[in-house]
Amino acid sequence: MTKFSVKELIPASLRKLVPDKIKRTIKDKLIVKTPLEKDVALFILEGKRFTPPLSDFPPMVMIDTTTRCNLTCEHCPNSALSEVKDFLGDMEDDLVYKILDEIAREAPDTLTRLFNGGEPLMRKDLKDHIQYAREKGIKAVSINTNGTMLVKSRRQGIIEAGLTHIEVSVDAFTPETYLKIRKSTLFDRVVQNTLDFIQESKAHNPENQVTVSMVLQTDNRHEHEQFLAFWEPKVDHVYIREYHQHNANVDDHGLFKNHGNPRRHPCPFLWDRIIVNHDGMVRFCEFDWMGEHALGDAKENTLKEIWQGEAFTRLRESHVEGTFCHEFCKNCTDWRQINWNGMK
Ligand SMILES: C[S@@+](CC[C@H](N)C(=O)[O-])C[C@H]1O[C@@H](n2cnc3c(N)ncnc32)[C@H](O)[C@@H]1O
Ligand code: SF4
Ligand code: SF4
Repeated sequence: MTKFSVKELIPASLRKLVPDKIKRTIKDKLIVKTPLEKDVALFILEGKRFTPPLSDFPPMVMIDTTTRCNLTCEHCPNSALSEVKDFLGDMEDDLVYKILDEIAREAPDTLTRLFNGGEPLMRKDLKDHIQYAREKGIKAVSINTNGTMLVKSRRQGIIEAGLTHIEVSVDAFTPETYLKIRKSTLFDRVVQNTLDFIQESKAHNPENQVTVSMVLQTDNRHEHEQFLAFWEPKVDHVYIREYHQHNANVDDHGLFKNHGNPRRHPCPFLWDRIIVNHDGMVRFCEFDWMGEHALGDAKENTLKEIWQGEAFTRLRESHVEGTFCHEFCKNCTDWRQINWNGMK
């Protein structure tokens, strides 16, 4: 695979502004969580040529168990796509279990996320999938949820089944803002469900992780600080997610972020995740909601075959070489929001 250089990404004039002594100090005191982060940091500091390391199996698998949802959030393509033929659907149980079996066999450390484009609690058997995954030895099983259906019986079900991480997408600090963004009057219920979940989940296993998130956008930006102040003492992580346009499926009140024209870096998605649509089509990008650029079919092939397959390899190469010639990536505006340190 061709290597690329940070020299092409960060102009030499900018790097020269940092004196060598400071670079050495930064390098010595560098706090990095993963070898990949270290590579990226050295790459930025020293302009070393670098090829992102590729694991044998995707570090993260997202399983789109359902695309159904009970909300119509203004920032989410789900609302618009619900009208589109073939968008809505549930994954067959056999396929869910086939994928979980492969993860357990190949790489039980894989972060296994039992949702993608819909609301995972729409499936009453969510807890069965979690339990199966955990009994098979998968270490990290997570969901993102809107929290509206996180009532006591459902909380108990998924906690006892062994869910290790939950992210509740709250997006607002007040009911008014919640109504604007999530088009729902259930703000107080979601907050209370989340607070109850924290207690119950930690009582079951103190290692369990709880995150709340806010997608930063025009209608909630003014509540950002209050949101952080309220949630930070209560949860393990508060995740302020940048707004994505999902390949022009949504945009924030007609606003497009103007990032100037930074040199483009390879997209971390291609090295960190694989997404299986409810119909089994395997895609490389979260923003390809309809799976129109699928690289394989999980019903026919293993995830490992697809991950290491020719199409995926060629796509990664086009990012490393800087051509970005794939028709979906070519026009993408969202790669700027996805960085190598905070892959989510
Ligand atoms: C598609 S939802 C599916 C899970 C669940 N229904 C929920 O709301 O958490 C997954 C995550 O994507 C986020 N999301 C949706 N549209 C987005 C956008 N335009 N930009 C950034 N994140 C977005 C949601 O806020 C949520 O945290
Ligand atoms: S963000 Fe989640 S809850 Fe909101 S419409 Fe999308 S899938 Fe549904
Ligand atoms: S560059 Fe854009 S379209 Fe391509 S994988 Fe990354 S986010 Fe998706």
